[in-house]
Amino acid sequence: MPSYVITGVSRGLGWEFMKQLSDDAENTVIGIVRNKPLTDKRVAEELSSRPNITILEADLTNYDELKNASINAASITGGSLDYLIANAAYSTPLDTYDNIGTLPGDTKRGQRPQELSDEFSKSVANVLGTIHLYNLFMLQILEGAAKKVVAISSGIADIDWINDYGNEALSLNAMSKAALNVATAKFSAQYKRDGVLFLSVCPGLVDTGHFVEPTPEQRARLEGMLAKFGEYAPGFKGPITPTESVKAVLSVVENASIAKGDGGRFLSHFGNKQWL
Ligand SMILES: NC(=O)c1ccc[n+]([C@@H]2O[C@H](COP(=O)([O-])OP(=O)(O)OC[C@H]3O[C@@H](n4cnc5c(N)ncnc54)[C@H](OP(=O)(O)O)[C@@H]3O)[C@@H](O)[C@H]2O)c1
Repeated sequence: MPSYVITGVSRGLGWEFMKQLSDDAENTVIGIVRNKPLTDKRVAEELSSRPNITILEADLTNYDELKNASINAASITGGSLDYLIANAAYSTPLDTYDNIGTLPGDTKRGQRPQELSDEFSKSVANVLGTIHLYNLFMLQILEGAAKKVVAISSGIADIDWINDYGNEALSLNAMSKAALNVATAKFSAQYKRDGVLFLSVCPGLVDTGHFVEPTPEQRARLEGMLAKFGEYAPGFKGPITPTESVKAVLSVVENASIAKGDGGRFLSHFGNKQWL
């Protein structure tokens, strides 16, 4: 009867993790969201209030709320947790199409350094929140049978991919995921000896409704980016669905182990370093 805590289950990949994992009535699935009434309503409407799902409320940037969520989760599971999936993240819309040199401004409005600073801080807050999350749930993970902690990362943080294929976009997202990968590897270095597997996994490029309409200038950059993706992965046909992505990520998580040398690794949804 494995237990799971997943952050950011209100929508997107988090919702899909919760849905697929709670398909098995034996699993105990705890989702953490910022707006509990809204997610409870969605669970009631779309999943007929499955009895193996509990929704708790916490903002990743609020330590006290996260702490309360960890205490409430322990009271549901009896104090042991098998899997922690750190999925929640603020993804800035600022850098979807623009490269790092054009981020602080545009031709019409000029430089916008404050906006860049604010979006950078919000992106990096994801990492600090996840470090608090890991620490707050660590005792429960140590008591669990599976002992697996998963950060939902992104291949855009792979420096070799950036360098070899000139991946210019999504700089702030990439920097926050690079920091997340390091934090996750550092936790692995500390807790591997206790049998805890920490992993950073990229879910692939997934359509979760984020593709905002680009300006003509941005469209040109987008086309350049997609051409580079095609060069990198000749079979690339565009974003995959949350269903496909979560199925693949869960399979990577199931197959990975400390014994196979996976502790602290940064893997794609294929279980390797092929990001698309
Ligand atoms: N989609 C992709 O192509 C892709 C690719 C690579 C990596 N990823 C990663 O996969 C994960 C999920 O992506 P997604 O596309 O499903 O994202 P999404 O649709 O933007 O959903 C993000 C989730 O995180 C929650 N969240 C954001 N900030 C939070 C905070 N401060 N505290 C608590 N919860 C917070 C959101 O809650 P609210 O509803 O309250 O806002 C939402 O549930 C993210 O870590 C993302 O970086 C996605």
